[in-house]
Amino acid sequence: MKLSQTLLGIDFKNPTVLASGIWGITAASWRRAAKCGVGAVTTKSLWLHEHKGHRNPTIISTDHWTLNAVGVPDAGVEKAREEIGSFNKNKPVPLIANIIAESVENYAKTAERILELKPDLLEVNISCPNIEDEFGRPFACSVGDASAVTKAVKAVSGKTPVFIKLSPNVDSIAAIAIACAKAGADGFTVINTAGPGMAIDLKSRMPILANKVGGISGPAIKPLAVRCIADVYKATEGKLPIIGTGGVFTGEDAIELMLAGATLIGIGTALADRGENVFKLVCDEMADWGKKNGVKDMKELIGGMHRELQKKS
Ligand SMILES: Cc1cc2nc3c(=O)[nH]c(=O)nc-3n(C[C@H](O)[C@H](O)[C@H](O)COP(=O)(O)O)c2cc1C
Repeated sequence: MKLSQTLLGIDFKNPTVLASGIWGITAASWRRAAKCGVGAVTTKSLWLHEHKGHRNPTIISTDHWTLNAVGVPDAGVEKAREEIGSFNKNKPVPLIANIIAESVENYAKTAERILELKPDLLEVNISCPNIEDEFGRPFACSVGDASAVTKAVKAVSGKTPVFIKLSPNVDSIAAIAIACAKAGADGFTVINTAGPGMAIDLKSRMPILANKVGGISGPAIKPLAVRCIADVYKATEGKLPIIGTGGVFTGEDAIELMLAGATLIGIGTALADRGENVFKLVCDEMADWGKKNGVKDMKELIGGMHRELQKKS
């Protein structure tokens, strides 16, 4: 099964994408992911100025889910300039720069500064669920806020495609997606972490995370990701590409997200569980599945569930 594709003028040798926040912000870690077979890498969320994250403990994992309240720490644009600059010198795979800010104005400013570094694609994180104490409800939770951020970033983004990273923690992800599409979004990343959730230590009777709550990722959120991708794909009539992200561990998980409407597949939590070869493993499993099921090009799978539903209606 063919796994490569050209999307918005960018060549992806396979659909796997290193999800934001998982492997630091260094050129060395992106190069390592590329060596391990990833199709594209995403930076962790980049702020205009240094932003301190939350106190430890910030992560707890089980076989079924991970809770994280890292709190989006980042050294700011100057550090990003060094790392992205170094990666660009001999870039093995496309680079997606993920940005975050506390105001619409600063989303535009951060985008402008980061775009000077010529990423292949800009991903706008409006959906982190574990910094509400600092900044209030994420922009992804309101049609007006999500649309305003999209418009502001699109006003400065020129030819670089802008993907908006959406939250599952909303009444209607379809309504948010439609608003962002009208404001000019070129695509979406669906989803950021869910919740937030909480885990309590039985002995101390205290929350395990210092921040008390954290975003939920890993296998437990895959059905949520599949539903959200399907909603966004349907709402935008399959016209805008989606980086489907959430609980992907295997090739079959990736195929399921594609049937819901994903064009590329973000992988985060699975990196800790299956190890750094997870990208190659997922691609090999996808290719095996394609062989067994007579699918020659992975593109046939994108949005496949919607076409089956239509046939039956
Ligand atoms: C430890 C950790 C840190 C993360 N940091 C970011 C981040 O900085 N920016 C962002 O947009 N998403 C961040 N995420 C969310 C992931 O990119 C992804 O959307 C989410 O974890 C769901 O995918 P998964 O189940 O494959 O991990 C983070 C997730 C984890 C587990």
